[in-house]
Amino acid sequence: MQPEIHHSSNNDARETESAQTTRSLSAPNQLARRSFLRNLGLGAALLVPGAALLSGSSKALAGNGRQRLNAGDVAILQLLAAAELIEADLWQQYKELGGVDAPDSGYKAGLVILDGDQPQYISDNTDDELSHAAFLNAYLTSKGEQPIDLHQFATLPPSQVSFVPQTGRLTNLKQLTIDTSWWTRYRSTTNPDFGATFPNAVPSLDIGLHTAIPRTDNELGDPNHPSNRVKATAFTAGFHFGYIEQGGTSLYATLAQKVTSLEVLRILLSIGGSEIMHFQTWQDKAGNATPLTAFDPINNSTVTFIDLTTGQPETLQANLIMPEPCEFIGPGLPACSIIRPTGPGQLDATGVINSFIADGLFIGQPPQFLHLITSLASAADAAEREGGD
Ligand SMILES: [Fe+2]
Ligand SMILES: [Fe+2]
Repeated sequence: MQPEIHHSSNNDARETESAQTTRSLSAPNQLARRSFLRNLGLGAALLVPGAALLSGSSKALAGNGRQRLNAGDVAILQLLAAAELIEADLWQQYKELGGVDAPDSGYKAGLVILDGDQPQYISDNTDDELSHAAFLNAYLTSKGEQPIDLHQFATLPPSQVSFVPQTGRLTNLKQLTIDTSWWTRYRSTTNPDFGATFPNAVPSLDIGLHTAIPRTDNELGDPNHPSNRVKATAFTAGFHFGYIEQGGTSLYATLAQKVTSLEVLRILLSIGGSEIMHFQTWQDKAGNATPLTAFDPINNSTVTFIDLTTGQPETLQANLIMPEPCEFIGPGLPACSIIRPTGPGQLDATGVINSFIADGLFIGQPPQFLHLITSLASAADAAEREGGD
């Protein structure tokens, strides 16, 4: 049974206040964020259209035997909604250039080198992220809480490729610095929750800036004879896919430990499982990158891919995609095959957002955006499970 937790002791007063700021802001950390958002003038911007009209329907749901969420669960769901909107935005860009409906190009041919079904997987991963974001926001709304809308920050320039809609985007995929240590982490017997660190599988991706999408029609390449430059962009995307989804994998498992409501726990375990399936798919595909070195004159950077399929140590070998058993919980226990990290201070909300910032996903975003998402992350990480140990 879930503990009965009241969001606020003054529901009547809350009903009379503007709906936009009254639903999720009772905990100290959320009060801080509320003030912060007001200072930035972002309180209203966070609302999806029509949210102000949701008082009645949410009340009906809440009054229909449905318990309100505590502040920690709300903060976790709001951070996850933001993360899913970010994921959806970047996946949409990949889908436009490499999904099943994207015109043939050298870039798409490069993706197909990784797997013949790569365009299908890209389209489906995109749909999954859209569903995650929509579900989390709808669930928040159904509980009378404030959903997340980042539309006002979708201002970054898209790829200039002619068939890409010239609409502003939330994320940058043209100047990435990609941490590929997740590859060696999952092939190691050590665990970052115990302080272990891991080398990059593709060291050059973690140095300088790299594009993961064609920036112009000239960079689409020949579908029948993609150049090394075009293939390098596709392989960069291939490793970026794994990078993104390993983050989601750890994020959900880490935050699940802070959830109070069993229903919210069910949501985190279920969506988190989807992230794990994404991650596993992408790490199986990235290892099919063929050896090449290519120079990007715009970012002034070089990337080198080696053949990870043969002649590599176990920490790099491409087909070792099952999580290598590693240390877990305590030193007296046997090694266990798990997702990792899942401990505090690793890929928790702040850790994932900081990692996304380091990845370059938000290059071009104003400080207000960074303040907003780091604030959401801090609130989520501050959540504490109630009614348990
Ligand atoms: Fe997702
Ligand atoms: Fe995902």
